Amino acid sequence: MAETPPLTEALATTARMVEVALDALLPQPVGDEAALHRAMRHSAEAGGKRLRAFLAIESASLFDVDPASSVRTAAAIECLHTYSLIHDDLPAMDDATTRRGKPACHVAFDEATAILAGDALQALAFEILATPDTHPDARVRADLVLGLAKAAGAAGMCAGQMADLEGERLPLDLESTLRMEQLKTGALIAFSLEAGAILGQADDDARTRLRTFGEALGLAFQIRDDQIDITGDPAMAGKDLGLDQAAGKATPLARLGAEGIARMMQELEHQAMDSIAVLGDRAERLREAYRFAVNRAS
Ligand code: IPE
Ligand code: IPE
Ligand code: MG
Ligand code: MG
Ligand code: MG
Repeated sequence: MAETPPLTEALATTARMVEVALDALLPQPVGDEAALHRAMRHSAEAGGKRLRAFLAIESASLFDVDPASSVRTAAAIECLHTYSLIHDDLPAMDDATTRRGKPACHVAFDEATAILAGDALQALAFEILATPDTHPDARVRADLVLGLAKAAGAAGMCAGQMADLEGERLPLDLESTLRMEQLKTGALIAFSLEAGAILGQADDDARTRLRTFGEALGLAFQIRDDQIDITGDPAMAGKDLGLDQAAGKATPLARLGAEGIARMMQELEHQAMDSIAVLGDRAERLREAYRFAVNRAS
């Protein structure tokens, strides 16, 4: 049997595959609206860890899904995620100037173009999922569209982003800060894992297990992001840091302190690992991805 490459290599290989797919799916700059197309590419092709893509592809591989299907699904998730970053950086939201080591979309272009680039990336995500090339079974495609809509919308990421902004002026308690992070970041990460099970037409038990793993990973991922905002290196992170404290954001870390958060991170890791224990060795990559997500510097 071929040796399994280290996680960093596997992440890089997945990122390359997803970036080839994105290049083919993103519009070529053309016509009077070329700036919109350039802005979409500016942000979507700026790199990034492509962790959500990796999680979707790894989850799908548990069910022997055709890689063409999982790569397209991963590309759709990355389009949705990139839209969320473009809007998150806008002056009306976090007012950040650097993203993925490059000027934020509204800095490289302008605010109106960045808003439209985000809108168009979100629409493209759904277009990719709904296109028959993503999966021959229309029910699978509809399930993917439904899952992404729920993760992104008014009961998912947008709700979390709203609570995040409210938290700048309201004293959110610990429970509310956790819910905010589950929604703004956990929902899309949980969907990324669930998407693999949807593509693989897995049974409800496997689907729930992967989703539960994704929920724990999603929350832990955002808690790590909040730690990086305080103690990270902006050059490594490729984005503005220190914004959370400056804006007076309510975060679980601000509520619990470093020690309390360390305990919570341990608890989340147990929950995550328990949920996929029955998957045995085949899920080892997901376990490695979890450890990467909570220990990363960027
Ligand atoms: C940043 O996400 C936004 C959060 C939800 C914390 P990532 O840290 O995954 O950003 P990229 O995709 O690697 O740039
Ligand atoms: C972003 O959270 C969550 C979404 C984009 C949905 P943050 O505002 O903490 O992400 P960064 O730190 O700007 O990447
Ligand atoms: Mg934000
Ligand atoms: Mg931000
Ligand atoms: Mg952050």
